[in-house]
Amino acid sequence: MVLYEVKNYEEMSRKAAAVIAAQVVLKPDAVLGLATGSTPLGAYEQLVKWHQKKEVDFSGISSVNLDEYKGLGGDNRQSYRYFMDTNLFQHINIEKSRTFVPDGLEPDSVKACRAYDEVIEKLGGIDLQILGIGANGHIGFNEPGESFEKGTHCVDLAESTIQANARFFQSLDEVPRQAYTMGMKGILSARKILLLAAGEPKADALYQALCGPVTPQLPASILQLHRDVAVIADQGACARLHGQGAASYFLRR
Ligand code: PGA
Repeated sequence: MVLYEVKNYEEMSRKAAAVIAAQVVLKPDAVLGLATGSTPLGAYEQLVKWHQKKEVDFSGISSVNLDEYKGLGGDNRQSYRYFMDTNLFQHINIEKSRTFVPDGLEPDSVKACRAYDEVIEKLGGIDLQILGIGANGHIGFNEPGESFEKGTHCVDLAESTIQANARFFQSLDEVPRQAYTMGMKGILSARKILLLAAGEPKADALYQALCGPVTPQLPASILQLHRDVAVIADQGACARLHGQGAASYFLRR
């Protein structure tokens, strides 16, 4: 695991976009594992700019997203399919039929999750997985719990996640209570993982993820077991790492 500490969100976004662009350049038919939320948004904006300058070509790329709210379709503005379409896919030359997000409108959870695992398998796994981290340590929608879930599964969202995501909805009541998320097997099978974190609200989770015990109570901690994880985090998110002087052995500035 290597941690790159950067000054702020903008710097994190540029560096993250550079890693993604490098993956696309090095392997034009790569499978990108993508994430939604505020964290990767700046990186996607940067990629769109580079694409418009014809510097990055996504025509051979496939993508799989981490998660989707159960019950929301792609035309719902709060769905993650809508997020990806409007923030990235519509602005680059990725083949829409090769962009995958769990089917939030499939009411049969077993069917939806099995179909998604088959998609990941058929693609031959993920070359580069982008991850944000929840303030409670979740990755994708793998919430803190008693065990790590392996495959894609249906989760009851943690109350803290529902509260955190309410900012995107008109009211708290509108936030779906369940979601489909890729499990740890899908995430850890990625050949490279890029974990992004910005802002002090993430500082505790990031510290626990990097330096704490590997435990399903802090799902991101499982990343310690992966052989190729790069973390790009801003000063706010690194606040606790500084305080402890703990992570200096994997720190790159
Ligand atoms: P955020 O969410 O990027 O909106 O902070 C991250 C996450 O919950 O995984």
